[in-house]
Amino acid sequence: MSELERIAIEKAKEAVKLDRQGSREAAIARYKEAIQILSRLISLTQSPVLHEVYRERMRQYLDRLNELSDETPAKTVVRQAASREEPRMDPVESNVKWSDVIGLEDAKRVIREAIVYPWMRPDLFPLGWPTGILLFGPPGCGKTLLVAATASEVNATLYTLDAATVLSKWLGESEKNIAALFSKARQDVSKGKPVIIFIDEADSLTAQRYLEVGGEARARNQLLKEMDGLANKNKREYLYVIAATNKPWLLDEAFIRRFQKRIYVGPPDRETRLNILRHYTAHLRLAEDVDLEALAEMTGNYSPADLYNICLDAHLTTIREMFENKLEEPRKISMRDFIAAIEKRKPSISEEMVMRLLEWARKHEAV
Ligand SMILES: Nc1ncnc2c1ncn2[C@@H]1O[C@H](COP(=O)(O)OP(=O)(O)OP(=O)(O)O)[C@@H](O)[C@H]1O
Ligand SMILES: [Mg+2]
Repeated sequence: MSELERIAIEKAKEAVKLDRQGSREAAIARYKEAIQILSRLISLTQSPVLHEVYRERMRQYLDRLNELSDETPAKTVVRQAASREEPRMDPVESNVKWSDVIGLEDAKRVIREAIVYPWMRPDLFPLGWPTGILLFGPPGCGKTLLVAATASEVNATLYTLDAATVLSKWLGESEKNIAALFSKARQDVSKGKPVIIFIDEADSLTAQRYLEVGGEARARNQLLKEMDGLANKNKREYLYVIAATNKPWLLDEAFIRRFQKRIYVGPPDRETRLNILRHYTAHLRLAEDVDLEALAEMTGNYSPADLYNICLDAHLTTIREMFENKLEEPRKISMRDFIAAIEKRKPSISEEMVMRLLEWARKHEAV
């Protein structure tokens, strides 16, 4: 087993190296070999953590393989030229409002206390404030949305560091780029504006230590070092690192410890689902028979993102009909349209997933 793992790493390392040198054919062959071995490992492993790490890895190699396979020689040249440049680190503008985030009252409270209040009244925080916040929870429940709302609330500059992309695109350069990003962020902060560095899919950045290939351990250590710099107690700075993940069990202790606040962003209860349905149907024309309470009741494992899509689907049905039947205006959306939309869509959340997250929360939550 560990022998297989060693071979997989060997093949992947060669692939990455060849890839960076531009030897496309050879890199493709090595990626394929690495993928084959990983799929063997996946079928052999008993550990759920390793299982996910292997799968995540395999997905990355498959993505890269697909990219390489439809890459022409001209494209290769362009890519190599581009990869020599500094990474582009443009801040993202956010105009999400606090009121767009429905439910999640605990998460909002913790964030207000950590970020909004210290920004408004730093004099009330002589001991400083938390600068590392980890958000974990099932997909589509508002982690990214919360970060966007926070950023616009304090008018912060928001840099997003998507861990999976960082590792696959910057192949081995990631630690340099992380250092550069933090140094840019510190410059911004010194000009008097809060900065949030948002690490999305944080699990792919830290979990990779199992299968180190392109310098992930170095990237991870760089990140830990930067975060230690932030946590310096006497410095009261408006530079925050917020990380999000829906697989927190892939994170390692050293990483987890850097986040003073660890918040569970859980699935909506019935009441919250009702509010979300109200929110997303507020500007739609609904027929008399639409019963949002009943819809909230029947959407047990659906995430807010699912609910949004259900409203969208139901609405689009009426628009489609309007065009197909050459009507002047779309008809009102009926209960039937919502139910059809629900039946077409599987819920993104499962009991099993929630159990596992709650179990992790019991050990690691810090609010
Ligand atoms: N609490 C919420 N209130 C209102 N809308 C929400 C909420 N949570 C999610 N949504 C809707 O679902 C979309 C996706 O949510 P978001 O990207 O924040 O999920 P996430 O928790 O970051 O998921 P993932 O783990 O997949 O990244 C949002 O853009 C928004 O439209
Ligand atoms: Mg997200």
